[in-house]
Amino acid sequence: MIAGIIRERKAHGQKAVLGLPTGSTPVGIYRELIRLHREEGLDFSNVVTFNLDEYLGLGPDRLQSYRRWMQEHFFNDINIPPENIFIPDGLTPPEKLDEHCREYEAAIQRVGGIDIQLLGIGRNGHIGFNEPFSATNSRTRVATLDPVTRRDAAGDFFGEEGVPMQAITMGLGTIFDARKIVLIALGEHKASIIRETAEGPSTPRVPACYLRQHADATLLVDTAAANKLTAVATPWVLGKIDWTDQLVKQALLWLSEQSGKALLKLDDDDFRQHNLHQLLRHHGPAQSVAHRVFRWMMAGRRSARSSRGVHDQRQHRGLRSRRQTNRRPGERIQPPVRHRRVQIQRPGRARGPVVGKEGPGR
Ligand code: PGA
Repeated sequence: MIAGIIRERKAHGQKAVLGLPTGSTPVGIYRELIRLHREEGLDFSNVVTFNLDEYLGLGPDRLQSYRRWMQEHFFNDINIPPENIFIPDGLTPPEKLDEHCREYEAAIQRVGGIDIQLLGIGRNGHIGFNEPFSATNSRTRVATLDPVTRRDAAGDFFGEEGVPMQAITMGLGTIFDARKIVLIALGEHKASIIRETAEGPSTPRVPACYLRQHADATLLVDTAAANKLTAVATPWVLGKIDWTDQLVKQALLWLSEQSGKALLKLDDDDFRQHNLHQLLRHHGPAQSVAHRVFRWMMAGRRSARSSRGVHDQRQHRGLRSRRQTNRRPGERIQPPVRHRRVQIQRPGRARGPVVGKEGPGR
């Protein structure tokens, strides 16, 4: 998508203007763009970039500065002209900050606005450093960091006390002016905020939820970050589905939790009162489907126990399984992580907000 915009603009002799984030989320995108540059000749000479934010008080030589991060993760490896790179200057003296922010906005205007704005999301729903309760029409400015943000950044600063209190950030209004917006979320720790962003009520507590008002905003999530979305967690409430064994099990466990009843105590009315008529029709009555799921679960436990037995025997005989070989002593075996990207867009609309729900206009 990004490469397409760069090539298309170049073909028309125009500049491609990218709004860019830092953080763990975009690392893979920058790597892929670098690969396209090296292996397929993607040319960045017509690209102009505006970064979302920078910590106040940090110069480009500091390890945690976003300017340095961008150089090391992206700019050093592509052919973007240095004069086309815009990042707020964390060392701007206090008396010049207003002017610096105004000039940042003016620079975006001068190149005709941002073509595509990439975003990560904080666990508190921030985008850039637009923390909860940021104004939807805010522009580039100095913002005070939310405690959740400072806690999440603590690892980079050797402790929370080292995290700056303030940053310069593009405003929500600046971000929403981009022609196209792509918000990316990866990992289980983003699942709750992704659900709130895509499906929760519009609230200033979750700045990212206002992206639903944008004409061309897309949310890209991996399987883990999508976990709490209705379409993944409880797809049966959305309409007709194909009942796989896994979904039947998922629905029964959910129903048991919702109704506060043990699996084998569920009755037909519980199914009807929780939108599970279809399941009852195809696999009912309640008792029989509940027994089926119960048997699967018992079988699952038995096979888990027996594979633990094999594992114990291997240990006993001094053998090492393949997954053990790279472990450090005492380290636990982690289940393999599966990443699958799903694109969530309002059904029936080629271009449209992430998920259509109401919220204040801008
Ligand atoms: P992350 O940060 O990509 O490191 O998760 C995102 C953000 O806080 O905006």
